[in-house]
Amino acid sequence: MSLAAPFPYFGGKRRAAPRIWQALGDPSGYVEPFAGSAAVLLARPPFTGRRVETLNDVDGWLVNAWRAIQLSPDAVAAAAWGPVAEIDYHARLAWLQQRRTPDLVAWLEGDPEAHDAKAAGWWLYVLACGIGDPFGPGPWRVVDGHLRKLPHLANAGKGVNRELPHLGNAGQGVNRELPHLGNAGRGQLQAYMRRLADRLQRVRITCGSWERVVKPSVTRSGTGGDGTRAIFLDPPYATSGDLYAESSEGVAEAVRAWCLTAPRDLRVILCGYDAEHDALLAHGWSVTEGKAGGGAGYSVNPTNGRRERLWLSPACIGSEQPSLFPLAA
Ligand SMILES: C[S@@+](CC[C@H](N)C(=O)[O-])C[C@H]1O[C@@H](n2cnc3c(N)ncnc32)[C@H](O)[C@@H]1O
Repeated sequence: MSLAAPFPYFGGKRRAAPRIWQALGDPSGYVEPFAGSAAVLLARPPFTGRRVETLNDVDGWLVNAWRAIQLSPDAVAAAAWGPVAEIDYHARLAWLQQRRTPDLVAWLEGDPEAHDAKAAGWWLYVLACGIGDPFGPGPWRVVDGHLRKLPHLANAGKGVNRELPHLGNAGQGVNRELPHLGNAGRGQLQAYMRRLADRLQRVRITCGSWERVVKPSVTRSGTGGDGTRAIFLDPPYATSGDLYAESSEGVAEAVRAWCLTAPRDLRVILCGYDAEHDALLAHGWSVTEGKAGGGAGYSVNPTNGRRERLWLSPACIGSEQPSLFPLAA
């Protein structure tokens, strides 16, 4: 069952998912070290039996959202549901940003079931309401239980500091519901969260930097599937800037360097822009062209998609035939 991601996300790979699964097959062990909206895992072709699947991301609130959907879907739906109101948006975002501390990641790392359903619902609400970058600090703070706007903030236009668009326009734009839900009411939202929880039932959800989940102890496969192990690597592109909540400087380069050392039997796909990872081609990798992103992303630049590439390790299905994935229209 293919499911839509529950939030729009910069760099979401929903459109590329069919190509990716064509190249990965039905791996017994599958890891997404840069999970984001998990658009690829959610689009995996149906299978029966057990697979070992792992989602990871360095962003604590993002991982909390996935854990909470997995373990407490009804509570997440209850916290996420509600009409869009600018004041609630600012209050929830300020509440989340004040708790985005190193302790958040340490807490998620320390207990595989640690999650906060209310925070997850609020985080989904903020991502569904916000247009643009919701991760900047902005001027709003909760001080002694009251929402206060800090004066003289330098980074105008970032995060909650920007005006919400179209507020005068009968709520058009910010008034969209959680993505893919149409005019969903509370019951539909709950049903959707339960479907996501079913899909995630056996998925390991970890928080931390990517290097920790590309080790053999994590990629190790189960008994089902075609006996292979696969890793889908979608790091922030070197050209992305600060799109995400955590700094991503140097990550794409480090991932490419790791790819050169990856076991030959591992099916690995690495995403990037233009010729970013062409150094891999001299080592038996191949590259595909075309739109990798999805309609649920934030990108306002329609040409970005055409610059996206997938680099396939030699063990991928069809990696010896680059024409398998012709340039998208
Ligand atoms: C391009 S997005 C992934 C998009 C995802 N494939 C999707 O379909 O939504 C990159 C993700 O990498 C995460 N990230 C950045 N640096 C990281 C690191 N060092 N380790 C793990 N995740 C990281 C970001 O938080 C972001 O969610």
